[in-house]
Amino acid sequence: MRVKVSRRAHFNAAHKLYNSNWTAKKNEEVFGKCSSPNYHGHNYELVVSVTGEIDEETGFVIDIKVLKDLIADKIETAFDHKNLNLDVPDFANLNPTAENIAVVIWNKLRPSIKKEHDLEVVLYETARNFVTYSGG
Ligand code: NI
Repeated sequence: MRVKVSRRAHFNAAHKLYNSNWTAKKNEEVFGKCSSPNYHGHNYELVVSVTGEIDEETGFVIDIKVLKDLIADKIETAFDHKNLNLDVPDFANLNPTAENIAVVIWNKLRPSIKKEHDLEVVLYETARNFVTYSGG
């Protein structure tokens, strides 16, 4: 029996979407308001899921407190109330789109998740816009 266990988390962060190889005009055309030079913020919602077999002794797939602390340590501390472009080294040369943020989060968490477990990251940039990354 493989069961998916999920923890919801949250962070506020600023970003701008920008390709430095493009003109300001092209950035404006592609990214619209998101390329605004003075940055803008989002209330990101994050759902991290771990799928695996239920442990016979504990009845858990993963102790949700362990998952909670891992997200707080690896993601919330690094991203919350930060400017993703300027403050988070992962985005120094990587456009902080929801897609790229989800991949960065997955890569930060994966080494701390047992290899027999599957990891999925769902990142909501707004209530209606969200992306999913499961590796690969
Ligand atoms: Ni944005």
